[in-house]
Amino acid sequence: MPYDIWNRRYTGSKYKLSDWIIGLINENCEGTTFCDLFAGTGIISAKMLSQISELYINDFLFSNEIIYKAFFEDKEFSNKKLQTYKARYLSIDASKLKDNYVSNNFGDKFFSKNDAKVIGYIREDIEENSSDLNNKEKSILIASLLYSMDKAANTVGHYDAYIKGHTIEDSFIFDLINPYDSKGKSIHISRRDANELVKELSYDIVYIDPPYNSRQYSRFYHVLENITQWKKPILFGEALKPQPENMSEYCRSSATVVFKDLINNLKCNYIVVSYNNTYKSKSSSSKNKITLEDIESILKEKGKLLKFEKPYQAFNAGKTNFDNHKELIYIVKVGNKHVNSYNYTI
Ligand SMILES: C[S@@+](CC[C@H](N)C(=O)[O-])C[C@H]1O[C@@H](n2cnc3c(N)ncnc32)[C@H](O)[C@@H]1O
Repeated sequence: MPYDIWNRRYTGSKYKLSDWIIGLINENCEGTTFCDLFAGTGIISAKMLSQISELYINDFLFSNEIIYKAFFEDKEFSNKKLQTYKARYLSIDASKLKDNYVSNNFGDKFFSKNDAKVIGYIREDIEENSSDLNNKEKSILIASLLYSMDKAANTVGHYDAYIKGHTIEDSFIFDLINPYDSKGKSIHISRRDANELVKELSYDIVYIDPPYNSRQYSRFYHVLENITQWKKPILFGEALKPQPENMSEYCRSSATVVFKDLINNLKCNYIVVSYNNTYKSKSSSSKNKITLEDIESILKEKGKLLKFEKPYQAFNAGKTNFDNHKELIYIVKVGNKHVNSYNYTI
């Protein structure tokens, strides 16, 4: 079965909340230009696609950018050619492969030794066939590899650590992703720091879902970043991570300041913000960096504020138990920047 955009494990994915979020956007916002600033899996963009004419989708991870290009970019590709690659990748005999970068580093850790050999072989093969593939086809093959890897990974869903103390069975099966038809839509894919991007553009509706705790996405998904970029860096530590890059200010003590700066610079009619109440979490890495009070006071500065909430059991690695976990959606109907706060609804 080809992969849909939500067929991956991703911390903070709003897949299970997406119908609720889209419903709130439809009831409270108007417009055809939509920006998903911290898009993660891209599920919210995917669900908005049919009702908008222009999509801005952004995240600063390389692996997310290639996934957006694969699913959303309005470019031609040959399905027949991709099926030929798939058939070839399905017929690989791991026992005949030599060790490679992936098997040397991640074999018997994040993947079985055989699966790691196959993953490394396929990634190299895509690179070697670059002249046979247009950019869309190459993005589809790399994104398909990332989705197929996720299914075989010996992890709890991210790559901060692998699961120890058992034999890892071979389970990797290559399958293709199923791209969206974005014909006639204007699609803008970027890998920028959200705070920089918003200074340049204006939109009808902006959806904001930054990280709110100290867990850095570039560290959680370093294996996907590594395979996507394919620069084969030297890796460090037990989790075989490269040198840090794309470290988010939203995961640091500066988060409130950065969030305020983002909201101040936004040029749009509606701001839709996801938030949750894990700021009460007992685990320090799960604790929110921005408090509920701060987020509400920053958003109120921008216009009329609406608040919606829903009880929710979020993804976690099993260590943290959030009592009374709630997901919140704030919608700001942007008005005059300096309207008095008593005009706002909350
Ligand atoms: C909570 S996740 C978004 C989840 C997404 N809404 C979904 O449903 O899959 C936050 C995302 O923000 C990205 N991110 C963190 N800091 C960023 C920044 N300064 N600029 C752009 N993206 C950033 C992370 O890579 C991560 O994918």
